[in-house]
Amino acid sequence: VSELLTQDIVFPEVDIKGWVRTFRANRFIALNDGSTINNIQCVVDFENFDAALLKRVTTGAAVHIKGNLVESQGKGQKVEIQVNELIILGDSDPETYPIQPKKHSFEFLRENAHLRTRTNTFSAVMRLRSSLSFAIHKYFNENGFYYMHSPIITGSDAEGAGEMFKVTSLDGKNPPLNQEGEIDYSQDFFGKETNLTVSGQLEAETYAMSLGKVYTFGPTFRAENSNTSRHLAEFWMIEPEVAFMDLAGNMDLAEDFMKSVITYIIENNSEDLEFLDTRLQNEEKTKPQAERSSMTLIEKLKFVTENNFKRVSYTEAIDILRNSKPNKKKKFKYLINEWGTDLQSEHERFLVEKHFKCPVILFDYPANIKAFYMRLNEDGKTVRAMDILFPGIGEIVGGAQREERLDVLKQKMASINISEEELWWYLDLRKFGTAVHSGFGLGFERLVMFATGMSNIRDVIPYPRTPQNAEF
Ligand code: 4AD
Ligand code: MG
Repeated sequence: VSELLTQDIVFPEVDIKGWVRTFRANRFIALNDGSTINNIQCVVDFENFDAALLKRVTTGAAVHIKGNLVESQGKGQKVEIQVNELIILGDSDPETYPIQPKKHSFEFLRENAHLRTRTNTFSAVMRLRSSLSFAIHKYFNENGFYYMHSPIITGSDAEGAGEMFKVTSLDGKNPPLNQEGEIDYSQDFFGKETNLTVSGQLEAETYAMSLGKVYTFGPTFRAENSNTSRHLAEFWMIEPEVAFMDLAGNMDLAEDFMKSVITYIIENNSEDLEFLDTRLQNEEKTKPQAERSSMTLIEKLKFVTENNFKRVSYTEAIDILRNSKPNKKKKFKYLINEWGTDLQSEHERFLVEKHFKCPVILFDYPANIKAFYMRLNEDGKTVRAMDILFPGIGEIVGGAQREERLDVLKQKMASINISEEELWWYLDLRKFGTAVHSGFGLGFERLVMFATGMSNIRDVIPYPRTPQNAEF
């Protein structure tokens, strides 16, 4: 359909398959095959077709159409298909088909996640998701990075935050039992304790320290019971890791990368972006004036590609927040009193949306609120961490220069009870040819949210895994 709709030269004969969106006046089939947001209009001269056959042309039915592509007589489309042959491939009972030709709530569509990509909004979102994935691989490929597959089942907790899903090899048939006769879950993965990965970073570091520039792009898992519109239990993460690169280089890379992938969709996905933009504008109109965004979706995307990201240290950010009045109540819900407290999303969004009004890279965070592997600064209390904050999203990227000094890393691990045995291979990197290196993690769904203007992370991944959604 997408090819046919952009044809200048009219093909005499066409042969297409797709799903019926609507069938109007026993004459006009709006057909969609997933290749574009647009339907192609197929005109049936009902006098020439069996009435029983036409009755089967219902919303959701799969059909095969042969006909002639002609200039459209009606408004709204350049071309249409004059149908010569109509074959019903798969019926769709209009009484029970869940996706009616009307507006459905996102909640309802989440319950029908297997069919929601038959709607305009979700097909546009998922095409953009695919396009962004391609743009990401393209960027790294063109910049000398190797794609590395980090393991899904692992014995380590990369973030040291204990938010892991355990993996067990117990098959339910002959599970090992403890003395009380209960299943012995401590036997885990063939006798070893393992979990689903929370991040591929530590393994990516090992590859960066031999291949130079690598990235991972795969599913990661967090057993955090947070019910927010920005968290999933299973999400996809992109993690580049580069040898001999410091924190400033990491910021440059992240900014260039984000701009590049967003530029890619602006240039290649304009139809879907325009559709989502209109959807967003309509949604904005239902909000109170004060909460409405004055920017269109495309403007928001260009805002990122055309502005420099503002680089601000954590300490500067805290000073700004302490001296700011964010709203009518002139208070944040979580007050920033002391240096050393972590920022809440309201603070992040204030910095991006109200104060700097551009994407922000916060760096040099207090060591105690960041992961163990980050490079300690000379002040002894901050680490070379960086978070990128985006408008409407908050944190979209988290990264750091890594601690490359064996003794400092060991001390840090000991201070928070991470055993050296567990990470012996990680420590080896610091024993044999250690060097400055850095990387970051981009939460893919947060990028898709930003790119599509969708406000709930459950609506930008095919089958969201959250405490409520794990059925499909
Ligand atoms: O900040 P995080 O936890 O950092 C890491 O995992 C590092 N190992 C990355 C690295 O340096 N290689 O996660 C990175 C990003 C976050 O900024 C956020 O965008 C996303 O991953 N993220 C989530 N996205 C959806 N659901 C969740 N539960 C997420 N947790 C993190
Ligand atoms: Mg983070």
